[in-house]
Amino acid sequence: MNDLDHAIALLRQGELVAIPTETVYGLAADAANPEAVAKIFALKGRPSDHPLIVHIAGTAQLDDWAIDIPADARRLAEAFWPGPLTLILKRQPHVSDSVTGGQGTVGLRAPAHPLAHALLQQFGGGLAAPSANRFGHVSPTTAQHVRDEFGAECPLVLDGGASPVGVESTIVSLVDETPKLLRPGGIAREAIEAVLGRTLEHHQSNKTAKIRASGLLDSHYAPRTPLVLGTLPALLDDATRRMAAGERVLILHRTPIDALPAGAHHQQLAADAAHFARELYALLRRHDHQHDVLLMEAPPQTPEWLAVNDRLKRAATARLE
Ligand code: TXA
Ligand code: MG
Repeated sequence: MNDLDHAIALLRQGELVAIPTETVYGLAADAANPEAVAKIFALKGRPSDHPLIVHIAGTAQLDDWAIDIPADARRLAEAFWPGPLTLILKRQPHVSDSVTGGQGTVGLRAPAHPLAHALLQQFGGGLAAPSANRFGHVSPTTAQHVRDEFGAECPLVLDGGASPVGVESTIVSLVDETPKLLRPGGIAREAIEAVLGRTLEHHQSNKTAKIRASGLLDSHYAPRTPLVLGTLPALLDDATRRMAAGERVLILHRTPIDALPAGAHHQQLAADAAHFARELYALLRRHDHQHDVLLMEAPPQTPEWLAVNDRLKRAATARLE
């Protein structure tokens, strides 16, 4: 039996399978089987009122899961599926509360990764899948990251290589009068606005809208080693001070540095946003526990960095100007 057949067999038995997607790896279960979906929450340690995205093969399955689908939603699905866009729509009555967190809406996405797409086509139904990490940890972008998270507790990890986008899907809600951006991600806000012919309101949750105070760990995207964002000059000053106090510091920068504090460890990161996004989670994982603090040069506040800046803001413990 090949891996794809094995995955289908496990999913039909109500077991979990970790799947590659173009954004991050997902921890998948048959969305029509509440007992299987419950295993996702148990393994992740995720609160059960957090809704899951239902992954489908394509636009042909939209109506299996959603009702009252506005024309804007169909336009977006036509334009960006398969791809890193999740649409929040009114749910079909049969969609389980375990998937929707008891809400009247459902999140739908058709992933573009060829292995995920083939799996979904063969499976026929929908796969509920959050990112395949323990609650509050950094999302996985390789099969090895998933094995590091769950070990033998996840029966099968389909290995589809490194996720090419590297940050989660863009989430757009089409439930109200005006479409809303709930999470910036793999599809640029401007590309969505171009298809809709209107601007997208950005709805940020209060919990994560501002940088949290040092030591107060936000539950999302956070490495365990503190991550400090800042301008390069501020970070270099901070590094010098910390190193004098005996801290092991790693400076992560995009701009070349002329004068590095003596003995400082550093790594130069990709200068363009897409490349940076692809490497971000692997970078945070690789350097977690290796240093006392990660000092990262904050990317510019320009549209192409929106998703990366959103994740960094949630992961960071402080920001130095
Ligand atoms: O790229 C992605 O979206 C990845 C891959 C695996 O597809 N999945 C992912 O899932 O990031 P997760 O569970 O880590 O994040 C899904 C987000 C959550 O913030 C959840 O609250 C939101 O989607 N969401 C899901 N269904 C929703 C709904 N009905 N209404 C509002 N938000 C919803
Ligand atoms: Mg997640």
